[in-house]
Amino acid sequence: MPTALITGITGQDGLYLAELLLEKGYDVHGVIRGQNNPKRELVRRTVPDVVLHNGDLTDLSSLMRAMRDSEPDEVYNLGAVSFVAYSWENAHVTSDVTGKGVLNMLEAVRLQAGEDPGSIRFYQASSSEMFGKVQEVPQREKTLLWPRSPYAVAKVYGHYLTINYRESYGMHASSGILFNHESPRRGPEFVTRKVSRGVARIKLGLADELVMGNLDAQRDWGFAGDYVEAMWLMLQQPVADDYVVATGEMHSVRDLLDIAFAAVGIDDWAPFVRSHEAYLRPAEVDQLVGDATKAREVLGWKPRVGFHELIESMVEHDLAEQSRIARS
Ligand code: GDD
Repeated sequence: MPTALITGITGQDGLYLAELLLEKGYDVHGVIRGQNNPKRELVRRTVPDVVLHNGDLTDLSSLMRAMRDSEPDEVYNLGAVSFVAYSWENAHVTSDVTGKGVLNMLEAVRLQAGEDPGSIRFYQASSSEMFGKVQEVPQREKTLLWPRSPYAVAKVYGHYLTINYRESYGMHASSGILFNHESPRRGPEFVTRKVSRGVARIKLGLADELVMGNLDAQRDWGFAGDYVEAMWLMLQQPVADDYVVATGEMHSVRDLLDIAFAAVGIDDWAPFVRSHEAYLRPAEVDQLVGDATKAREVLGWKPRVGFHELIESMVEHDLAEQSRIARS
């Protein structure tokens, strides 16, 4: 039975990946940060078979301990400070966790692997945010990176360091350049979940408006459950490499609002949506859309869930959740 170690196990991707690997018969371990982490309970409830280790991406010795205690065949580094807007206010923390955290993980893997650097396979969660002020549309593995936030700069550092460790030490280190991926497990600060939850609350009479930022931003949104499969596929390849993972379809925040409000029978959302500059970013990424040809051809990966279905399922989930909360 292969063993996997996941950082960021408490997040949306960590939970989906843990479920996928358990289904495949893996022994799954996760790194969890902090004393009394409130998300520990969520992990225990969702994936009770996962073995948790205390550790912090900024603390190399804790990662080495987790590595020694779990003895993984595969390591998935999903842990990060991942909310882009937050990264301007917390640039140092973001750089330490999202950027230097990758260095700590690569070092921990390298030291654990010893004489045989390729014996532990490593996945780095790179991000389409790295394309930032996009230099071509759609974006591919070779598109020039032009990060537009402290978060994206930290991700670029982690991305190149992963490539460098592969080239310097012969490590089996792959980087997945994932475009936005969502689900009912998405944190409520991200735009899709903010909208699905807000729309559900408006429909149930629990709120009367949704305060938003830039409605013209465009993204390539897929389903997180599909994307974790691409992560696993990357580590099953004989040679490590970098892959764009995306749907190839671009939608605006306005499209997102159209679909979410239509799902609860509201065709004209203008009276319910207000813009506020507090939600605008100092530098925006306007047009992200990925070309996942390489992932399709080499990994045999393709997305299963489309944008409409994804957003409708999130609204449906939030309607049920918000009614439950309102009743209790
Ligand atoms: N969060 C948020 N809230 N975003 C808004 C809002 C709002 O009220 N109004 C408009 N937006 C716009 C943002 O300006 C951005 O252009 C877009 O919606 C998406 O924002 P997020 O959902 O916060 O995601 P993100 O694209 O910044 O980053 C996510 O995807 C990356 C992959 O490209 C995160 O998951 C990153 O960690 C990930 O790397």
